[in-house]
Amino acid sequence: MCGIVGYTGNKACLPILLESLRALEYRGYDSAGISLVEKDGRAICTLKSVGGIDLLERKISDAKLDTGICGIGHTRWATHGAPSDSNAHPHTAESLTLVHNGIIENHAELETLLLREGYNFYSSTDTERAAKLIDLLYKRTKDPLFTLFEAQKMLVGSYAFGIIFKDRPTSVYAMRKNSPLVVATDESGSYLASDVTAILPYTDSFAVLDEGIVAELCEDGAKFYSSPFCLCEQSFQKVSWSAEQAQKGGFEHFMLKEINEEPSVISATLSHHLDSTLPGLKNIERLISGLSHIYIVACGTAMHAGLVGKYYIERIAKIPVSVEIASEFRYADSPLHKGSLAIFISQSGETADTLAALRRAKELGISTLAIVNVFASSVAREADEVLYTQAGPEISVASTKAYSAQCSLLALLAVKLGITNFSLSTQKAEEYCKRLSDELASSISSVLQKSEEIAKISSKLLTAEHLFYIGRGVDYYLALEASLKLKEISYIHSEAYPAGELKHGTISLISKGTQVIGILTDPSLAPKTLLSLHEVLSRGARLTLICTERILRENSIPDANIITVPDGDRILRPISTACALQLLAYHTAAKKGLDVDKPRNLAKSVTVE
Ligand code: F6R
Repeated sequence: MCGIVGYTGNKACLPILLESLRALEYRGYDSAGISLVEKDGRAICTLKSVGGIDLLERKISDAKLDTGICGIGHTRWATHGAPSDSNAHPHTAESLTLVHNGIIENHAELETLLLREGYNFYSSTDTERAAKLIDLLYKRTKDPLFTLFEAQKMLVGSYAFGIIFKDRPTSVYAMRKNSPLVVATDESGSYLASDVTAILPYTDSFAVLDEGIVAELCEDGAKFYSSPFCLCEQSFQKVSWSAEQAQKGGFEHFMLKEINEEPSVISATLSHHLDSTLPGLKNIERLISGLSHIYIVACGTAMHAGLVGKYYIERIAKIPVSVEIASEFRYADSPLHKGSLAIFISQSGETADTLAALRRAKELGISTLAIVNVFASSVAREADEVLYTQAGPEISVASTKAYSAQCSLLALLAVKLGITNFSLSTQKAEEYCKRLSDELASSISSVLQKSEEIAKISSKLLTAEHLFYIGRGVDYYLALEASLKLKEISYIHSEAYPAGELKHGTISLISKGTQVIGILTDPSLAPKTLLSLHEVLSRGARLTLICTERILRENSIPDANIITVPDGDRILRPISTACALQLLAYHTAAKKGLDVDKPRNLAKSVTVE
């Protein structure tokens, strides 16, 4: 999704803008641009280019800009208007240049108003309409603060803005609504970014700009205003991530590096929330006692982690769980169980649908708990309580280590719910916790050692156009995530099916050579899934099986490519099996020579609806 960067200060501005834009590349974009105030401070030069930052750099070098003193930059992921030079940001008006993330929903009304005022438009973006509205207000008020507080009243939708007014060329102004923006300062000046990874190389302290506040970033620090007349404070916090964590560290792709980090991020997540032999999680005790129902709400991979959470919570704590897709939940009219808890899972903590769903649950008076990876992100800040996964920065668009960290935290939460609601003895709870902390990381490490073997099996999938993942129970939940992972990075169409459901229609798609991947990790359900696998085999399907060593030993297994995963027990198996499935998707996409970390059309953090 779009990225914003900005800097003003006594260091060379242009290299900071470019390095920060590169740090945001992982979010996905189709054009990039900068506005730079050169050292003489007289003119603001705006350059933009469709395509990658390399193309933008070529334009910058042709323009022979100096390194500048103040500037803003942007990577755009097209929403309104196709990717093009004219639609790329920054957008300029007579008095200003600005970059914007989000969607201005009343752009058509603004355009009508601005046409009446004599404005013309050169792009099809909502952002240009916002730039010209701010220009109109600035011409009237001659004051950035009055202008921006007035603009807040007139703009409908979501926005994060970085703005330079031409007659105040050493300040960057910023404000936001429903779209993230952070401000940081050091002895050289002030930084603006939509994502903390952009400023990690410069400082480890940042403030998340509160909605409704206007920030003025200057060489000597940042000032925050709650109205044109009132200065206010914003709380600065330390980020525990380092710039090195956001590097590839010798791996061919971030995705492979992040899968390999799973043992360590799971250990970090578990030890962060374990209090000796039992889950700590003291802050959530008031939210979780006496629950008769739980909702888990999230999008994509995070929602699939929620399904694994449902499996854990229903089995361990015996509390019924509904897993809801956030974009549906936010508009659903269905009544909610009184006195229930809604858990919102998000890696970024900024997913627009998840945030809107959280706000709906709060409006309806449901208690809310967030499971989030990014510190101080919007979902984390707005939920009643938050539990952080300790996955570190996830750069690859396809989520892997964040999913595993979410699943492991959900396992711990299930144990906590079990103790709190008297469905689990302390002794049993301690056993679960011990197994999680002693065995989960090593079980995943043993899957990682099979990476080459999995790579060989992936060669057999390369020519597939369609593929089916099937499983029962939690294996079906894993199939959903495996299928999403494969399609998003390898562009092979795939579907996940509950094994027993195939014969109610979809089996008509199975013919000679159709690739089917069966997931068998639950010994009690394996014989049933095997029946379904025999059905597809007899219609000519080619089989790949992901199954535990025990299931392989105890059942008569049909002819197939086989990837074995450790036996473990029910709390360990889903997470280590997920790792094997992630590797299968990764190797398939890598062997196809695709841009694994930045799949087409996708953005890392989906901050618009
Ligand atoms: C797929 C993927 C997405 C995200 C989804 C939610 O690999 O990463 O499906 O899981 O967009 O994102 P977060 O977790 O940031 O809310």
